[in-house]
Amino acid sequence: MKVYIARPIPQNAYQILRDGGLDVEINPENRILTKSELIQKLQGKDILLSLLTDPVDGEVLDGAPSVKLVSNYAVGYNNIDVAAATSRGVLVTNTPGVLTETTADLAFCLLATCARQILPADSFTREGKFDKWEPLGFLGQEMYGATLGIIGAGRIGTAMAKRGAKGFDMNILYSDPKPKSDMESLGGRKVEMDELLAQSDFISLHVPLNESTKHLLGKQEFKKMKKSAILINTARGPVVDEAALAEALETGEIAGVGLDVYENEPTIHPGLLKTQKAVIVPHIGSASLKTREAMARIAAENIVAFVNGTEIPAPVNPEVLP
Ligand code: DGY
Repeated sequence: MKVYIARPIPQNAYQILRDGGLDVEINPENRILTKSELIQKLQGKDILLSLLTDPVDGEVLDGAPSVKLVSNYAVGYNNIDVAAATSRGVLVTNTPGVLTETTADLAFCLLATCARQILPADSFTREGKFDKWEPLGFLGQEMYGATLGIIGAGRIGTAMAKRGAKGFDMNILYSDPKPKSDMESLGGRKVEMDELLAQSDFISLHVPLNESTKHLLGKQEFKKMKKSAILINTARGPVVDEAALAEALETGEIAGVGLDVYENEPTIHPGLLKTQKAVIVPHIGSASLKTREAMARIAAENIVAFVNGTEIPAPVNPEVLP
């Protein structure tokens, strides 16, 4: 069977695939292929190993009817039209679990960077302005004992809550369709969204992107937050209305934001680029070598299991399986 890998990923994946007897072709360029280039590359291929930067929709699947598996190298799979895949009998897989702690680490790093004004303090120091200890300079927000609101109490949201509750004695509020025992055992309290927005000092987003979460936070929600609130988004950019966010920072509706993801990646709203109230990093939530290798391993193991007819580690639409 033939596999096409849309961009270079950690090499352990290639080895697993070759050891599994697969014929592997890798796009040698670290460039996102256009839809028509991808379709052309997929001719005669059985499997696509996609990245979150590859939109895979009905047009791609119809253009490459030999493809029967799309193994996404990410836990999020909003780049794939799963309904279109399911209706064509194409299996979709992802890489859950292995990036939970790494992504929660980054979310907490962003929180601390915003709360303690690390970026402006770093610039100030580099600019040679540190000439004496300042009793009134860079007065950030207290993290210890603060209230952390988690929107989306899945694996990563719970790992973020754990860092806040266990490391910083934070009070945890969470919003999720169902009560979560892991959250409750951290002292977390499930609340309505309005209460979470009003009470939290820090708000961290951990929901998948879908129709019901697009622009979950916008102008109205920013108005409900504390003026001192800091928002963290390591989930998906379109969960936040980015123009409304830039405005909320400018008008002082909220105090700061730490962002790993953007509404129209890689483009970032100019209002966010120009303010030091925003800490912005380039979608690096899972970016540790160990985690990226673990993601590569699962993406490859999903493929090998599919080919061998054994249990697939992480199917997204298992209903297409025989
Ligand atoms: C994912 O896996 O969905 C992250 O955004 C990238 O690792």
